[in-house]
Amino acid sequence: MSEISAPFEFSLVGQKLAGRSGILALMDDMGRALTLDPQMRMLGGGNPAVVPALQALVRERMGELLADADGFARTMVSYDPPRGNPLFIRALARLLQQEFGWDIGPQNLAITSGGQTACFFLFNLLAGRFAAGKKKRILLPLAPEYIGYADQGWEPDMFVACRPAIVWPEGGAGKIFKYTIDFAAVEQMLAGGDIGAIAASRPTNPTGNVLTDAEVARLAALAARHGIPLILDNAYGAPFPGVLFVPARPFWAPHVILTLSLSKLGLPGTRTGIVIASEQIASAVASLTAVAGLANGTIGQQIVLPWIESGQILELGPKVLRPFYAGKAAAAAGWAREFFAGTGVDWALHANEGAFFHWLWLKNLRITTRELYERLKARKVLTVPGEPFFFGLPEEWPHQHECLRLNFSRDAETVRSGYQVIAEEAAQAVR
Ligand SMILES: Cc1ncc(COP(=O)(O)O)c(C=O)c1O
Repeated sequence: MSEISAPFEFSLVGQKLAGRSGILALMDDMGRALTLDPQMRMLGGGNPAVVPALQALVRERMGELLADADGFARTMVSYDPPRGNPLFIRALARLLQQEFGWDIGPQNLAITSGGQTACFFLFNLLAGRFAAGKKKRILLPLAPEYIGYADQGWEPDMFVACRPAIVWPEGGAGKIFKYTIDFAAVEQMLAGGDIGAIAASRPTNPTGNVLTDAEVARLAALAARHGIPLILDNAYGAPFPGVLFVPARPFWAPHVILTLSLSKLGLPGTRTGIVIASEQIASAVASLTAVAGLANGTIGQQIVLPWIESGQILELGPKVLRPFYAGKAAAAAGWAREFFAGTGVDWALHANEGAFFHWLWLKNLRITTRELYERLKARKVLTVPGEPFFFGLPEEWPHQHECLRLNFSRDAETVRSGYQVIAEEAAQAVR
């Protein structure tokens, strides 16, 4: 047999998707650190914490499924239809209808293999190349935005993003800032006529920002006026998992596409995403599932089905996850204040309104946060540098080299000592 020495040629789409993407590098770094380097303090990645009360519920429910022969068969031995488990989507449609008055039925839902896959399908349905040589892009109204979107387009230059305005909720001398949407910039982008959809995560990964109800309503109105969908990625948000520290109304309308996930509830291993959309979009997502993967994982849907039927799933955020993560956030913010005090570092944190991240702005360093990330890694603190979250901006913005994303959901000692090392290393790099 002859030996194959040259690499095989990939299609253009293959080269685009199999290139070394930011998300791959991030997941690789994290995976390696988790398995090979137990000393590494893990403040990178988006892994949810082990929340004891929630884990207990999941384990109890898995026990029930294992003990019951029918339950076991439904969970392990059957393919679901591509759209998802019919009992699950019927129960979820009913719950959303009853709780929020949304005019939806099972035809408006589709299950995917995680929210990540939902976004991949949706972006490529709504942007890319169209008939007659037309090209459309996804508009991100507020950069920085979730790194996991950056390489999802089959076509290059899939995203265009707007810089936010920056406000200081506690006044200019405070240590808390917040991004808000610059609607003039958004309207200018939309006027270009090549936007296929507007998309935003709410809460936002990486910043913990939560678009206000007014911002969401205004985006929805703009989308409607331009005849395009608004995609709201609710991976951390309402109605579940509900890792929200400020009030935020769940929002849906026929031209709005809502993506939900069981991951941040504490079940990332089940790979369960949910799309709520018009019948046309939900059916298209189900078709893409059939083509790409035949069906989705069944386990997540089976675990949470009784909580959907009873409505209990809506209480897990407010009663279990919010107190858990809010406590972690407050402790970590206290350590930031303690360790940065007197260092000469001009620092601020983004208002922590949801999710599990601190977005740390370091304004007076002589190095970029990518360099700081390497220095921190050498001291066994894994973070995520801010740069890759600013994709889609038409021009370079110095601010994009000044931010660091920190996951504060690990155990107290890991987070505390991690923040201490970050403050020490930042102090070394002050201009
Ligand atoms: C904003 C956002 N959207 C989507 C995802 C994808 O999550 P999953 O595919 O596990 O549902 C993540 C994961 O971190 C995220 O942060």
